[in-house]
Amino acid sequence: MDAIRIRGGRPLHGRVRVSGAKNAALPILCTALLSSGESRLRNVPNLRDINTLAALLRFLGRDTEVSEGVVRVGAEQGTIRPEAPYELVKQMRASVLVLGPLLARYGKAKVSLPGGCAIGARPIDQHLKGLEAMGANIELDRGYVIAKGPKAMGGRLHGAEYRFDVNTVTGTENLMMAAVLAKGRTVLDNCAREPEVEELAHTLNKMGAKVQGAGTSQIRIEGVEALEAFDHAIVADRIEAGTFMVAAAATAGNVLIEQAPMEHLEGFISKLRDAGCRVEREGDGVRVTRQGPLHPVDVTTAPYPDFPTDMQAQFMVLMCLAQGRSVITETIFENRFMHVSELARMGANIEVRGNAAIVQGVAALSGASVMATDLRASASLVIAGLVASSHETDVLRVYHLDRGYEHIEKKLAGLGADIERISGVRA
Ligand code: EPZ
Repeated sequence: MDAIRIRGGRPLHGRVRVSGAKNAALPILCTALLSSGESRLRNVPNLRDINTLAALLRFLGRDTEVSEGVVRVGAEQGTIRPEAPYELVKQMRASVLVLGPLLARYGKAKVSLPGGCAIGARPIDQHLKGLEAMGANIELDRGYVIAKGPKAMGGRLHGAEYRFDVNTVTGTENLMMAAVLAKGRTVLDNCAREPEVEELAHTLNKMGAKVQGAGTSQIRIEGVEALEAFDHAIVADRIEAGTFMVAAAATAGNVLIEQAPMEHLEGFISKLRDAGCRVEREGDGVRVTRQGPLHPVDVTTAPYPDFPTDMQAQFMVLMCLAQGRSVITETIFENRFMHVSELARMGANIEVRGNAAIVQGVAALSGASVMATDLRASASLVIAGLVASSHETDVLRVYHLDRGYEHIEKKLAGLGADIERISGVRA
């Protein structure tokens, strides 16, 4: 198994380019199922999750190729197998995003329930309730969702008015993809407002759909009869950009993060500035520097446009080095503090009380062997290794990291970090 070895204490300098947004690519690749034509998605990062979804699209019957940042989903040939098996869905929960498109296009789908993951139960009840509102018949059978469109309409979904009980990103995306081919008008309320939802709507409209209001809490969709294929290049990954911004701030460096979508990180950037970091737009990027001490800042994660849960673990490392006490409250997922015990092994002083982590800043962290548990927790451990002033840090089980960060060790080495990937480590 691979690990990442870091010898910390070196401020990061230079410039780094952010890859395409994983969480924009995943739903957009599923929309290829909504058209019979050949679609292409560009600026796609080379990540495990992308390759897992490509394998699922092939399993469904669409010839899919990933190369040099372009994913090509071939035109429909013959019959499709509208089934997403557990062995693929368990590798990546976002596989449930094929449910809406399969139901919309073929009137039936058999998709494994994703099951929980390290950060929480991650139910999909909102996805299923919304599809039922559109006329789908949903049954659960031995861990699978068996969905069928309404018989009276030959399997075609009808428009509906649906209000989400909770703010869900992939729930909003699944129902958008179901509604674009439904008969009639759909109004979705209490939608997720993330930029990835907006980019999905933009791509659907390029395909001929009629989606309005994405990025606000109400999305209105007029169903159409058919959709064209797409050729689309995705935006830069705002969470990867934020991760590099924290790394620059934590190491008291000076880094230009190119193509950083600053406008999609306002809730996070304001907290970074409160902590004493300078964040300035420079060209199409953002320059982050920090000279003085880090100030303690209280943070509460919340749906977009507030502070993103996907930046919580990374920001916590910064607070571990602040001069004082800060409280980090996680309101989205019920178990997203698994990095805390690993950071404590590096000398951090953090106490978890329910969904709040009380962080007392310390003078320095020290290197150790630590275990990655989920995607963003692993990023926080890499950042902790970069700032550890003594000993080296081995981050184990980096397959978690490879799900969402393309060649992170190469990008950090390019900024002056002493970091390398080592293979064959027992973890
Ligand atoms: C998306 O996950 C992202 N994944 C996550 O990024 C991100 O952390 C999350 O949104 C929140 O921003 C993708 O976009 C592929 P949710 P998603 O549905 O959509 C509850 C990463 O690091 N809920 O918004 O699965 C749920 O339990 C990943 O890249 C229900 O109760 O998250 C959670 O507490 C991690 N019922 C909350 O809502 C439902 O039907 C938010 O979940 C759906 C969700």
